[in-house]
Amino acid sequence: MTTFTAGYMVGSLARGSINRKLARALVRLAPNGLELREIPIGDLPLYSYDYDADYPPPGRALKDAIAAVDAVLFVTPEYNRSVPGALKNAIDWGSRPWGKNSFARKPTGVIGTSPGKIGTAVGQQHLRSILAFCNAPLMNAIEAYIEFTPNLVTDDGEVTNESTQEFLASYMNEFHGFITRVYTALPRSSG
Ligand SMILES: Cc1cc2nc3c(=O)[nH]c(=O)nc-3n(C[C@H](O)[C@H](O)[C@H](O)COP(=O)(O)O)c2cc1C
Repeated sequence: MTTFTAGYMVGSLARGSINRKLARALVRLAPNGLELREIPIGDLPLYSYDYDADYPPPGRALKDAIAAVDAVLFVTPEYNRSVPGALKNAIDWGSRPWGKNSFARKPTGVIGTSPGKIGTAVGQQHLRSILAFCNAPLMNAIEAYIEFTPNLVTDDGEVTNESTQEFLASYMNEFHGFITRVYTALPRSSG
């Protein structure tokens, strides 16, 4: 079995982020053959195309980090029914300069949690639209809208509810299969 590496971006900068807890759970539940590492987004200045001629170190670090992984997983809250500004800013950095879009042909997945019943569903739809424009193959299903109940995931990523744990493990398994299929159809060496 081929081993793939997925970088994950956490869409929240909050110290107590429930999405960061979810990300820790996903790292623990990833199947053999899928390694995860974080792509940090918190040090990026606000993007402007004035930077395109000479990206500053945080912008370059982000693009290098995306280039170094086989896939990107977005673990994100929904802010005001959309994508948090920090995450949108990171995507804008990664997508530029024009012609050097880091997300092109990079398999992606989206997952998120909020205390609300619809568990980031609306924000994820916006993110899906953004990723489509960025030409990133996106796993359509399984969709994962996680309602965060108190202590659902501990600080170090242990899932306390068995059916949620099984679901998250199946999500990661499906993501691994999706990455494999993208690269089977389009080997990494081409275009
Ligand atoms: C600016 C802001 C906007 C929010 N908008 C939404 C929203 O649209 N839908 C939702 O379910 N929760 C919303 N919330 C509540 C978040 O789901 C909650 O703060 C959650 O903890 C955010 O995830 P995080 O802890 O990973 O940052 C919002 C929170 C903030 C700070």
